[in-house]
Amino acid sequence: MKVVAFNGSSRKGGNTAILCNIVLEELEKEGIETQLVELAKKPLQGCIACYKCFKNKDKRCAVDKDALNDHLQLMLEADGIILASPTYFSDVSATMKALIERAGMVSRANGDLLKRKVGAAVLAVRRAGAIHAFNSINFFFFIGQMIVPGSSYWNLGVGRDIGDVKDDKEGIETMRTLGRNMAWLLKKLHA
Ligand SMILES: Cc1cc2nc3c(=O)[nH]c(=O)nc-3n(C[C@H](O)[C@H](O)[C@H](O)COP(=O)(O)O)c2cc1C
Repeated sequence: MKVVAFNGSSRKGGNTAILCNIVLEELEKEGIETQLVELAKKPLQGCIACYKCFKNKDKRCAVDKDALNDHLQLMLEADGIILASPTYFSDVSATMKALIERAGMVSRANGDLLKRKVGAAVLAVRRAGAIHAFNSINFFFFIGQMIVPGSSYWNLGVGRDIGDVKDDKEGIETMRTLGRNMAWLLKKLHA
C-alpha cells in the first residue's frame, strides 16, 4: 500500500512539511510506503476551464506544460492521498488550490478517478484560518467520493517560523493520531 503526500507550501521543509512527515512516519511504522512531493518552486497553473478533460476522457489534464499530470499519476497509483498546505489568507496556498482544481476536474471528467481512496488534509497555521483551509481540502475529497479518517483534533499545527510547529504538542499528537487512523482505515479497506 502507498500514500502520496503533496506539500503546497512555498517553503520546502517548513512547518507544513514537518507536520506531514509526522503523519508519514506513523504510516511507515504500519508498513505503508510513503512519498512526499514538495510543490515549492514548481508553479502549477490553475484550471483554465477548457473542459477538454471531459472531451478527451484520457485521465490527463489537457494543459500539459507543468507537472500536474505527473502529480495526478502519483495520485492514481496511491491508495491514500495527503494534501498538506500552509494557511494563506485563511485558505490553502495558490499552488494547492491549482492542484485541487485540476486534479479534481480530471477526476470528475473520468468518472471519479480517486473514488474510495483515503484522503487526509494537513494544515500549518500561525494563528487563524486553518479550519477554512481544512474545509477547502475536504471539499475536494468528499466530492470525489474519497474516504476521510479523523483525528483527535482538526488536522492542524500552529507555528510561524520554520520549526515552530514542533512546539505545538497537541498539533504533533493530532498528526500522529491521524497517521495511525489513516493506516488503520487503509488496512480495513484493503484486507
Ligand atoms: C502569504 C501568506 C499568508 C498567510 N496567511 C495566514 C493566515 O491567514 N493565517 C495565519 O494564521 N497564518 C498565515 N500565514 C502564516 C503561515 O500559515 C505559517 O507561517 C505557516 O506555518 C507556514 O507554513 P510553512 O512553514 O510550511 O510555509 C501566512 C503566510 C503567508 C506567507
